[in-house]
This record gives sequence, structure tokens and C-alpha cells, in this order.
Amino acid sequence: MSAGKEGDILCFFINGKKVTENHADPETMLLSFLREKLRLTGTKYGCGGGGCGACTVMVSRYQPATKTIIHYSANACLLPICQLHGAAVTTVEGIGSTKTRIHPVQERIAKAHGSQCGFCTPGMVMSMYTLLRNKPQPTMEDITQALAGNLCRCTGYRPIVDGCRTFCQETNCCQASGVGSCCPSGNENTDEPESEKPQLFDKEGFLPLDPTQELIFPPELMRMAETVSPQTLTFQGERMTWVSPTLLDELVQMKSSNPTAPLVMGNTNIGPDIKFKGVLHPLVISPARIVELFEVTQTPQGVWVGAGCSLSEVRSVLEKLLSQFPEEKTELFKALIQQLRSLGSEQIRNVATLGGNIMSANPNSDLNPVLAAANCKVSVIFSGGRREVPLNQDFFVSFGKTILKPEEIAVSIFLPFSRQGEFVRAYRQAPRKENSFATVTTGMRVFFSEGSRVVQDVSLYYGGMGPTTVSAAKTCAAITARPWDDDTLSQAYDILLDELALPPSAPGGKVEFRQSLALSFLFRFNLEVFQKLREMNVITDEVPERMQIQPLPREFQPSLQEFSHVSKDQSKQDPVGRPIMHRSAISQATGEAVYCDDIPRTEGELFLALVTSSRAHAKITSLDVSGALQLPGVVDVIRAKDIPGKKFHTVYRDSQEDFLSETEVSCIGQLVCAVVADTRAHARRGVSAIKISYEDLPDPVFTVEEAIERSSFFKPQRMIERGNITEAFNSVDQVYEGEIRLGGQEHFYMETQSMLVVPVGEEREFNVYVSSQWPSGTQAAIAETLNIPSNRVTCHVKRIGGAFGGKIDKAIILACITAVAAWKTNCAVRCVLERGEDMLITGGRHPVLGKYKVGFMNDGRITAADIQYYTNSGATVDESVMVTEKMLLHLDHAYNIPNLRGRAAACRTNLPSNTAFRGFGVPQSLMVVENMVNDVAMVLGRPADQIREMNMYKGPSVTHYKLEFSPENLQRCWEECKLKSDYSARCKAVDLFNQQNRWKKRGISIIPLKYGISFTDKFFNQAAALVHIYRDGSVLVTHGGTELGQGVHTKIQQVASRELHIPTSKIYISETSTGTVPNTCPSAASFGTDSNGLAVQNACQTLYQRLEPIRQKNPKGSWESWVSAAFLERISLSATGFHRGPEVYIDWNKMEGRPYAYFTFAACCSEVELDSLTGDYRTVRTDIVVDIGRSMNPSVDIGQIEGAFMQGLGLYTLEELKFSPSGLLYTRGPSQYKIPAVCDVPLRFNIYLLSDSNNPHAIYSSKGIGEPIVCMGSSVFFAIKHAVAAARSESHLVGPFSLNSPATPERACLACASPFTQKIPTNEPGSFKAWALNI
Ligand SMILES: Cc1cc2nc3c(=O)[nH]c(=O)nc-3n(C[C@H](O)[C@H](O)[C@H](O)COP(=O)(O)OP(=O)(O)OC[C@H]3O[C@@H](n4cnc5c(N)ncnc54)[C@H](O)[C@@H]3O)c2cc1C
Ligand code: FES
Ligand code: FES
Repeated sequence: MSAGKEGDILCFFINGKKVTENHADPETMLLSFLREKLRLTGTKYGCGGGGCGACTVMVSRYQPATKTIIHYSANACLLPICQLHGAAVTTVEGIGSTKTRIHPVQERIAKAHGSQCGFCTPGMVMSMYTLLRNKPQPTMEDITQALAGNLCRCTGYRPIVDGCRTFCQETNCCQASGVGSCCPSGNENTDEPESEKPQLFDKEGFLPLDPTQELIFPPELMRMAETVSPQTLTFQGERMTWVSPTLLDELVQMKSSNPTAPLVMGNTNIGPDIKFKGVLHPLVISPARIVELFEVTQTPQGVWVGAGCSLSEVRSVLEKLLSQFPEEKTELFKALIQQLRSLGSEQIRNVATLGGNIMSANPNSDLNPVLAAANCKVSVIFSGGRREVPLNQDFFVSFGKTILKPEEIAVSIFLPFSRQGEFVRAYRQAPRKENSFATVTTGMRVFFSEGSRVVQDVSLYYGGMGPTTVSAAKTCAAITARPWDDDTLSQAYDILLDELALPPSAPGGKVEFRQSLALSFLFRFNLEVFQKLREMNVITDEVPERMQIQPLPREFQPSLQEFSHVSKDQSKQDPVGRPIMHRSAISQATGEAVYCDDIPRTEGELFLALVTSSRAHAKITSLDVSGALQLPGVVDVIRAKDIPGKKFHTVYRDSQEDFLSETEVSCIGQLVCAVVADTRAHARRGVSAIKISYEDLPDPVFTVEEAIERSSFFKPQRMIERGNITEAFNSVDQVYEGEIRLGGQEHFYMETQSMLVVPVGEEREFNVYVSSQWPSGTQAAIAETLNIPSNRVTCHVKRIGGAFGGKIDKAIILACITAVAAWKTNCAVRCVLERGEDMLITGGRHPVLGKYKVGFMNDGRITAADIQYYTNSGATVDESVMVTEKMLLHLDHAYNIPNLRGRAAACRTNLPSNTAFRGFGVPQSLMVVENMVNDVAMVLGRPADQIREMNMYKGPSVTHYKLEFSPENLQRCWEECKLKSDYSARCKAVDLFNQQNRWKKRGISIIPLKYGISFTDKFFNQAAALVHIYRDGSVLVTHGGTELGQGVHTKIQQVASRELHIPTSKIYISETSTGTVPNTCPSAASFGTDSNGLAVQNACQTLYQRLEPIRQKNPKGSWESWVSAAFLERISLSATGFHRGPEVYIDWNKMEGRPYAYFTFAACCSEVELDSLTGDYRTVRTDIVVDIGRSMNPSVDIGQIEGAFMQGLGLYTLEELKFSPSGLLYTRGPSQYKIPAVCDVPLRFNIYLLSDSNNPHAIYSSKGIGEPIVCMGSSVFFAIKHAVAAARSESHLVGPFSLNSPATPERACLACASPFTQKIPTNEPGSFKAWALNI
């Protein structure tokens, strides 16, 4: 259909201001409209697919029927602006700002230290703000639900939750009051009275929540809604037309004439299809104004719910019905509510519709199985009339297709009441508990006639077991008319297994796990039905308590953050050692903080999008860019030949990584060329129009095993050894050999790689704004690439939305290509990666295969270990060899193994190149060693903590590279951790729990840490600073560190404040710039504050000394008066500072050195509860004791500890990268790749900073803390392994067993070896082509 008329005017409100669009483009989402058109950049892009929550806004609508205003949170990235006609949108800018008044939500999240890099903060604020608009006194459950769809990669969520908890009235405990320490918790008590313990934040001064201060709903929109407008609205875009009728008949006619035009409702299925799969709909129809689609009507048999009702509306309708009807009638409703709690996120449920969910026919839909099982039906309208279609096995035809004809419209869905004797249940298991599509999801219903256990009718439906929602009809037939008993059920499992068999290479993988889940869900249903029959006195058999399965715990408990007071003698003004808020937290919470892509567009600015290889190992036989050049808006295509200078990047020695490869490619995702156009959309369309022909080269290498077989390694391979391994193995009591495989990890910084290169216009000068951890490295590389001196390139970094090591080398490569585009076009060029591109191109943490042979005595002493590491490094060397070196330097971990050998090889494979990532190999190295120690414990049948303790460094010690050190604080952390976590008592409680529960198991583990701080390359350990004092007394500090969220600028401000004896309010840090402080080192290796702090201290001390004569003349004068006098006296008020770092070195030939300045120590105890039937687990408690010397800023340091721990928890238990057999990364967004969310935070999360620790090697006796605690996530892995071992013992399996990292629900469940997993036939590896590679 053609709209046949000029487009209508779109009218809606944003932050109380009317917006009218004469040419609204249906392809424009609210997010780009806000950011690019209105310059409201507080709302952030994190993924574009509804998966991260960075773009959360509040939408308000007036409902004339009820005369009420509804408010709901939504993802702006999936909201077409055309859908907003008549709505009021509130963004983070609309609720408060530093210029007017900040909103209490903004204040509390910021002051509770819930904002580090700040990129997620506006989204968090808006989710919480919307909750408070609807419920000013929320419960903790409300808060965690509201935040479930918002990802944060920095904080670990605890401080965000604690900030939000201050609105919560349900508890009067310490966390509700913000003091964080009144609740008793094991042996945490110290002699200090609670009231005198230092607190991370003080809620006393918090602004109260005052609903009268909120923006009112625009009266004009109320009038618009009251005036029934029969007019169809049409919006005409560049490629798409949007039609929104008001009458059902009109809709029916429209659909009948345009059967292929989709009905756009929540756009949560259509939107991602358009964006990620390139689907183009010339016409879309919006039925949002058709009242019939939103009606809810009750009948004696059940309730008809409008297909257009959002899933949140459906849930509240059902919740109301629960209170109105007796329990036996609401079985289906309860099952649906259960599914709706964890389906997507609140933002998704608020817009996604019931009809949309059914009609999307997603095989993993959580609703379709239960709707089908419960005999629901759909009322359908079409131009010939109406019909009712049962939602049963015939309804779902194939992937994404239902039995309905394209012209048919679902009007409403009938949800029947259940009957006496009828039970309906739904179960799901997902890679992450919340905001994640299920791996397997089910709906199950059984009906018994009164007083009987004989099954009259049963239906079992599954999602995730094939291309559609499937019915287990044969199993149902075998159960029907038989008594519900063990005999019937045990036959049913066999039939079900046969009926739902999956081929070994089934799409989605996890074949054995999915089949096992199918069985265990039926088993769980069985248990619940038994219980019900028993309650109804139909049967007398008890389900023993031990066999029952209660849900995993989910209630957050108050957490502790324990740290020391500053000394009583310290001046009140001196901020060092105090929990000072991140200096930009408030601006981050108001959305005013400027990130790279928030910089306003300049006149004539162009956008660059990258063309990447779609083959893993191939020659490029032709590259045709002509199609792209003909497209509207496309300006140029940048190719390798356009690079005027050096065409490659060098990271390691003489390695070369081509910026653009036009002849041969060695991984999918390799950069081939780039399209430059006037807009992002045009550049991306240009990319799709580029044609590349390939000739595949033989035998690509993907896995570590393939690399070993073909000796595909980067050089050099390192080895380190102490003692005499061969002799030692001859004299041990036992030898054990094992291995563990660790998956890689995506950085998932919330802000994707971003840069803007602006030619100044004269003398080949460029200003570069870049989200980079290493501005000087970027500057030098751009200069070489453009063949100009470095003095013509100035790199500016204001702040970075998270980096974690991923914005060093990869950012340099992208910035160089962008600079070439700016050079060639002589225009400003911006490049901001989409999430999917970023994940595809930029690599991450190295996957590792660790093999070990360990020799030990029967008393537990480990006397020999030989460890071999293989990293899957990808196609280029990047930092891989350095990563392997650091792995070997941490080979001893915390253990004094006298005869120790380590070898490491960086495997070259045809996968995207991996790079630096927080911990730089140590998290992998440690895991292999810890697994080895754990295996020793399992062989000996001893508790693992005893073996760890026995082998730990004690007294004056020497590392395997002959460095003397004192492990005293390692021991202190260990002992204190045991004490604080009440370790021994809890071990006993875990054992008891495991005896009392057949299917749920608990596990507990405690892990030590010794982590070397500083770069191992000496030249990187230097820093410089520049400090200016202006005549008004204000101070501008610049230093080499970049602000990634780690709080370096906040700490530097503290340093300057102490040294200059002035309050931090007089000190400002604007940016990091190569124009002010040259030749700086990357902000990495946990060393930023150590080195830059000392450089700033040096500069400030110089300045303070210069003021000394003035101060002596006027000792009672003010700072301003001294500065003013100094100026008049012609004393320079500007100084540079420099810090020359420690003399570190490592001699690989002699296998000795001093590669680190000092060690950060820690110990961490975690406990989990595991459901052995599904592998689902919950971390019930974590206690971490950390030695960070004297903390410069406990809130920033604790923030780093918590955030790193959660990142480690993700690494070891959750995050899985999946590659196709041809080397394509499947997991290219938050929908497929799960980082920890609020639901993954330990229910009790205690942090203790070791008291009375000093460190002579760093500023003010502090220690680096950015990276080490990632390793402590391994305590959760080993707690899971402990729980799995308990589950295995039920099947009489004892001794070491293999559990690779991450210990996902899939791996944990299969390792538990329950009777159900044991039923699943295993497929011989190599006999089939698996869906995903095991890299
Ligand atoms: C981040 C994210 C997480 C998610 N997580 C889950 C999850 O955990 N579990 C789960 O089950 N789902 C999940 N979903 C899927 C989501 O529930 C569905 O996309 C949603 O319900 C579709 O509804 P919609 O209104 O957005 O449909 P739209 O995208 O607007 O439309 C989808 C399709 O349905 C058709 N359609 C819509 N309404 C009608 C109608 N009345 N009659 C005929 N055809 C119609 C359209 O033509 C279109 O083809 C998730 C989605 C996202 C984006
Ligand atoms: S950007 Fe919208 S949810 Fe991620
Ligand atoms: S503060 Fe949440 S992503 Fe950085």
C-alpha cells in the first residue's frame, strides 16, 4: 500500500516541551532522535536491542477511559518515534540537573557511590525514577525488578541497590539508613561500637522525595486524548511508511490489502529484526489506537485479554484476578505470572504485547508453552469475519510462523480458569536468571477427576527444544488414563526423551543440557503434583522433605563495607583516606557528563562505518565498492592504499597488525575497508552495499588443539622453573594429571569504542577525541599513520564509559583508520561502533587450556607441579605474549611449591585477536593452579581449604622468579576471611544442608590471592603531571591517567588537596590531553593512581614550596591571598611533576627478576546454593578481605573491589562466547552474551579492607586495586564445584571431576550427573559437527 498522502505531523512531549515533527521517519528510534536531533545525550546507546537499559526513559500516557496517567519505563532504542504520538517522554535531563536541582534518585545513586564510569547511570536513574513515580515507597523486590534490565559493568550493582534502598520503607536496618553496618553477620563484630564505625555514605542530608516537584503531564496531551480523533495517521520516511488507523474495521481492511505489512506493537521483535537482520518493511501498521485490542473481559469460563495489552498489563490483570478468585481457578494465572516475572526486563514487558509474543512464534517464548498447555485460544479477525483458533500444537508452524494467515489479526487471547483437580505449572531455565531468553521453558497441565489420581487429561509443552513451541504429545498419551505414580512417570521420562530428542548439531547447541532439562522439568512437575494430591488427600504417600525442591533464595540482605577511620590527627580538610564520592558522579547521574559520542556534531561532520571480513581464512579476490559510492549520503570508501604513512599497528616487538587488509584475511571481523557518509544510517547502508569475493584458504585453525597440532604459535614461548621437577616427581607419594579449559570474556564496556577526529584546517593538525586508555599511544600511532609529526596530533580524553583493557590497542587501530578518513576527506569524522561490531572486531580476554601434572604427599603437601598454558590468542599477536608472561609470573599464585615449572604458548588461530583485559592473564593462570590444588584435595578426600592453607606461602618467602617478599598480609587476609565469614561453622551448615536436600546442594569455598602490581616493562612505570594555579586560587590539574570509572581523577584531586592544603572544590580536572602532559603510559595494570598520584604530588609540592616565602610573610592569609601575592611577586604558578617508577625487570633466560613493585593480597569466601536438576545457582554470600595498604578513598576502592569481583563472577560462572564452526562469533550483543546483572549479586556481599597495612612503594601507603579482585570470582566457581561434588556423591561418584570455566548452569547441571542427565545419550565427539566450536 502506498500511503497516498503527505505524512501527518507527529506530536509528543519531551521533558515538558512539545515536539512536532513534520517529516517523522518511522525508522527513527527515540534514542537517536534524542541524541542526534534534540542533543539530549544523557540517554545512552549501549546495545540498540533492548538488552542493556542504558537508553531507559519514562513514557507517560493519559488514558481517557479511566482518566488516569500511566508511567512506564522503556528502552528508547526500540521505541519508534512514530509510536509516541500523544505521549510524554521524560529523560534523565528532565528530572534534574546541576544547573537547577538534582533529583533525589540522581543524588542517592551518586552519593551511595553507584556511579563509576557513569555510562549506565542515566538508565539506572530512569528505571528507579519510573518506579518511584508509580510507587514512592517501593519494596526491595520492586527495586531489584526495576533494575533487572539495566546492566552495569563497573560497580557490581551493590552500591546502586544500596542507594535505591534508601527509598525503601520496608526495613529499618542499616542499609535502609545507609550506614551499612548494623546487622549482625557471623563473626563480623569488632570491638568498635556500630555507631562509630566509618560509613561509606551518610543519608542524613539526602533530599527527600517530593512527588509534587515532578513534571506534570502536559494538559495539551490530555485534551488530545479526550478528543476522539477518527483520523488515520500516516508518517512517511525515507524507506518506510507508518500507518496508524483508529478503527478496527479500518485496521482489518488495511491488513487485508497489505498482508505482509507487520503490525507494530511493542516493536521488540520487529525492531531487532530490522536492526540486526537488515529486514526492511516498506509499510508498517500500528494498531496502538484500536481500543478492541486492549480490552479485558471476564466470562464464567475465564478471561479474554486484548492482544495489544503489554506484558506488564497482563501481569497486573492476572494479579488482580488472583485475589478475586479461589485458588483452584487461577492455576494458569499463577503460572503465567511466574513466567512474566522473569521474561525480559521491566522495560521490555512494559511495551511488548501478549499478541506480539504469541505471533512472534519464537521457539523460546515463555508464554506460548503455558498458554498452549492450558488450552488457551486466540480470537482472530480478518476481512471475512472472526474465528477462534486454539493455541495448541498446530498453532506454531515453523520458526517465527503461526497457523494464522498473514491478513489475520489477533484481537484477544482467552485464558481459561482452571478446575478443581487441575494443576498448571511453568518452568524455565535461562543462562541468566533475569533478562534472558530461556534455554528451555515449559508449560505443563494435568487434570484429575475428583478424588482420583488417575490422569484424565495432561498436556506438556516445551520451548527451546526445536524450531517451534513443541507438544510432548506421545508422553501425554502415555500418561493419560493412568495413575499419577512412579511407574507411570518413569515410563514417561523415557518416552519424553525419545520424543524430544535433539540432533547433536541442533542450532543453539547445549543439546544434552536441553534434553536433561526437559526431563527434570517433568520430574519437578511430578513432585509438585504429588504434593498437591497429597494436600487434597487423594494420596497418602509423602514426598519426603529431602526430595522437595524449594526455589533458590533471592532476598538481598544487608552487606558490610568495613574500613578504617583516618587518623584522629588528620586535618578535617584533608580528604585522603576518606570515602569521597566519584568527582563526576552527580553529572553522570544527571546525564550532563560528556562522553566521546556526546560531543556535538560539527558542520560537515562525517560518520565512518567499518567493512569486515566474513571469512576466517581467505584471499580477497575482489573488492567492489562502487555500489556503496552510489548510495545517498556516501562520501568515500577508505582503503589501505589511502593510508599515507605506516599501514599497520605494532604492539609487540616487530609484530605488524594491518589496519585494513584487502588481499588476505585471517579472521571473521578483520577490517577490510571503511565507508564514510553524512549520517550513521547512510554509512551503514554503504557497508552493506560493498561486495567482497573470497577464495577460502585451507585448514583454518580455530581451537587450541588445532593450533597445537599444527604448531601455530606466536613467538617466543616462555618457560619458568624453580627446583628440580623431575627429581621431585620421583619422590612424591602421589601424582595426578588434569586439565581445565577457560572460556574467553568480552570486555563489554558499556560505552562502545568511540572516536572523533577533527582536522584543524591548517598545518596538518588534528584534534582527536577518543575513548582511549592510552592517549599518547593513540597520538603516536595516528602521527605515524598520517606520516606527520606527533606535535600535530592532540588526543583528548574527558572520560571513558568503561574500558577494562579493551581500549588500548583496539582503540588505536580504529582511531588511526578514522584519522585517515578525516585526512582524506578533510572533514571531521566520527566512528562509534555498534555493540555487535564492537564484540565482533575487538576481541577480549584469552581463552585458556591449562594442563597440569602435580606431585604431592599423602599429608597434602604439594612438592611438584608442572603446568602448561595455551592461550587462544586469535589472528594477531597483540599483547598475547605479554599476557602469557604474566600468567607464568603468577604461576606460584599464593603457594610455595618448591619444584614448579610453567610453560606458556600463545596460539595463533583464525579468530579475532584477543587483547588486554583486567587481570592480564592472571585470572586464567590462577584458575588453573587453583583447580590443580582442588584436585589434590579431591584425590586425598580432604577439604580444599586445608590443602590451600598447608601449601600457602608463610614467613619470609621467595617467589619462583627469586623475588623475596613477606606473605604476612596474605596470611592475615586468609585468617581474617575465615573469621569474618564464620567459615568453619558455615562448612558444617553446608554439610547439613546437603544431607537434608537431595536435589539442592550448597557449596562453599575460600581462595587466597597474591597479585603483583605495576607494569613489568620498566619504561611504562613513569608518569607526568601539570598543575596550574590561577589568579583566583582555582587549580587545574592534568596528568597522564585517563578516567575510566576507576576514580583516578577523584584520587588525584585528593592528592592535590592534601599537598596544596586546599579543599577539593578548588581543584578541577578537565581532561587528559597529550597537549598538556606528553608521553604518558596507558591507564592500566592497576597502576594509574600509584604513578600519576606521585607525579601530581611532585608538581604540587613544587608549587607549595614556591609559595612558602609568601606564606611566611602572611601566615594568616588565605590561599587566594597567597596566590595573588605570588603572582604580583612574579612567582610561577604552574609546575610539572614527574614520577620515575620502580626498577622492575624480568630476565627470562635466568628466570629471575623483580617484575612488580609490590603485591596486593586478598582472600575471598563464597557460598552458593545450586539446583542440581537445572544447574541454576545463587551466590548466597561472599566475604572478601583485601589488603590495599592504606586506602586513599575507601568508597572508590571498595567500588573497584566489588566491580572486579562481579566481573570475575561473570568470567568464571556466566559469560560464554560462542563461535560458529566457520569462526563467526555468534554472541554479539547482550541478548546472546550475558554479563552479570542485579540478579547475580551475592545476596550478602561483605567487603573488609585489611587494617594496619602499609605499603612503602606507593603514594600515601596505598596499593593498586583495579584488577586483582577479578580473580576472587573464582571462589564462586569453586563453591559451585563443591556443591556439584555433593550432588555427584548422591550418584556415588567421588574424586576429581572435570568442570570447565565458566561453570554455567549447563556445565554444572551435567557435572552433577543426576539420574536425568545420566539418561541422556552422549554423542561421540568428532562424530558430528557441533553448532559451536570448543575453542
Ligand atoms: C531484550 C529482549 C528480551 C526478551 N526476553 C524474552 C523472554 O525472556 N521471554 C520471552 O518469551 N520473550 C522475550 N522477548 C520477546 C518479547 O517478549 C517479544 O518480542 C514481544 O512479546 C513481542 O511483542 P511486541 O508487541 O513487541 O511485538 P512486535 O515486535 O511489535 O511484533 C511482533 C510480530 O507480531 C505481529 N503481531 C503483533 N501483534 C499482532 C496482532 N495483534 N495480531 C497479529 N499479529 C501481530 C507483528 O506483525 C510482528 O510480526 C524479549 C525481547 C527482547 C527485545
Ligand atoms: S541501548 Fe537500548 S537497551 Fe541497550
Ligand atoms: S558505572 Fe555502570 S557501566 Fe560504568
